[in-house]
Amino acid sequence: MDLDFFNKEIEGKPLNESLAFLAEMFSGQVAFSSAFGQEDQVITDSIFRNDLNIQVFTLDTGRLFKETYDLIDQTRSRYKKHIKVYYPNTQAVEGLTSQKGMHSFYESIENRKECCYIRKVEPLKRALKGAKVWITGLRAGQSDNRQSFNMLEWDEGNQVIKFNPLLNWSYDEMIEYLKLNKVPYNKLHDQGFISIGCAPCTRAIEPGEDARAGRWWWETSKKECGLHQVKV
Ligand code: ADX
Ligand code: SF4
Repeated sequence: MDLDFFNKEIEGKPLNESLAFLAEMFSGQVAFSSAFGQEDQVITDSIFRNDLNIQVFTLDTGRLFKETYDLIDQTRSRYKKHIKVYYPNTQAVEGLTSQKGMHSFYESIENRKECCYIRKVEPLKRALKGAKVWITGLRAGQSDNRQSFNMLEWDEGNQVIKFNPLLNWSYDEMIEYLKLNKVPYNKLHDQGFISIGCAPCTRAIEPGEDARAGRWWWETSKKECGLHQVKV
């Protein structure tokens, strides 16, 4: 896929315009995956307030924090728009927990990746069926690995154009947008959590720690779950 054309069209455009451009170019085939993080809430706000033709979906792993579920409901009632929720394959989760118990992910990286595959990666593939563009809330400032990502990429695994519109936004810019537009946010952010995933695999971080230090905190490897590539 030659992304040069799209790169040129999107370059320098504000968030809502770049989203609107892709929504028009690929009408009905653009999907945004939200984990209800701060970045995701910026994009959701832009999509919903501008009434863009982009399907917003989330992957409910079944292990999210109550505060995240609360935020899903707050977001639904704030914008009164459809948010599609995908679940893991029932048989796969039944197999995993029956054979390995409820906390197999703490035992090895392989087990952790197996759980992430069942609860996130496979449902994502289903969610992206029929889509031509996948929008994410990835930001380069989140980790060293993410600094090597591009705003537009070809995602070989899912056979879609992946668009990371906030890639070059700073943390402060994001917070300013959220405050200015009074966007609902996860209450865990007030308790030292920055990057928030599944409850058993996320902790708050200490001042000075890397934004993703609280994710799979017991591991020292590159901390990606399989939705996004490990590049460095
Ligand atoms: S993760 O891969 O480590 O979990 P992270 O939480 O930083 O990712 O989120 C990065 C982006 O991945 C989000 O902005 C979102 O686009 C997508 N994503 C991650 N988790 C989910 C989820 N549970 N549902 C939908 N999208 C998700
Ligand atoms: Fe499983 Fe933890 Fe991955 Fe969630 S983050 S899917 S609980 S290993």
